[in-house]
Amino acid sequence: MSAVGFDEVITLDGPAASGKSTVARRVAAALAVPCVSSGLLYRAATAIVVAAGTDADDPAAVLATLGRHRVELVPGVAGDVLRIDGRDVTRAVQSDEVDAVVSRVAVHPEVRAWVGERLREMPAPFVIDGRDMGSVVFPRARHKFYLEASPEVRAARRVGERAADLASVAEAIRRRDHLDARQLAPAPDAQHLDTGPLTLDEVVDWVLARVRGAGTP
Ligand code: DC
Repeated sequence: MSAVGFDEVITLDGPAASGKSTVARRVAAALAVPCVSSGLLYRAATAIVVAAGTDADDPAAVLATLGRHRVELVPGVAGDVLRIDGRDVTRAVQSDEVDAVVSRVAVHPEVRAWVGERLREMPAPFVIDGRDMGSVVFPRARHKFYLEASPEVRAARRVGERAADLASVAEAIRRRDHLDARQLAPAPDAQHLDTGPLTLDEVVDWVLARVRGAGTP
């Protein structure tokens, strides 16, 4: 029998490069439920705004630009797929160009409402990662987790994923933490974990133990 009820949502929040999307994918696979990365919708909005040359600081212009495109986020057990106007852009939006602008787009309440609306339409069960999934979008989720790690640890992980040097990545992460600070609102009932000293397997096992009710909080 599955450890997750048919209508359950598991939220995994945390700062940039905290490993939450990898953990979310692994937890979802172990539970045989789809996973959703909410950051992909913010990345989609940003990619559209950048391509159109829209002023990222003007929420009305951003929303008008978004309205001209079809954005689909399709949950999947092997990871979710993001499409803009029918084209798979899941990997393309993981770029430094999008990273540099995404916080300016994500800060607008109008954009957050646009993302929240799309996420709430998704059929449960699923595992979802983001910044405010447990606090704002799915406050009634049964299992809520908040993953932390220092900027240096997160930079070292990211350098493994993309070609860049450690110091500049750590600096970019610190800048993004600062810009994302308003969105980084852990739910009061989320279980926190400092992933710094842990391996990916250990983090995944820690989350699964709590979802399955085997661990002590
Ligand atoms: O998780 P990520 O790095 O793909 O997210 C990209 C950006 O989107 C991040 O800088 C902040 C924003 N974001 C957000 O504000 N709220 C979320 N729930 C998810 C992402």
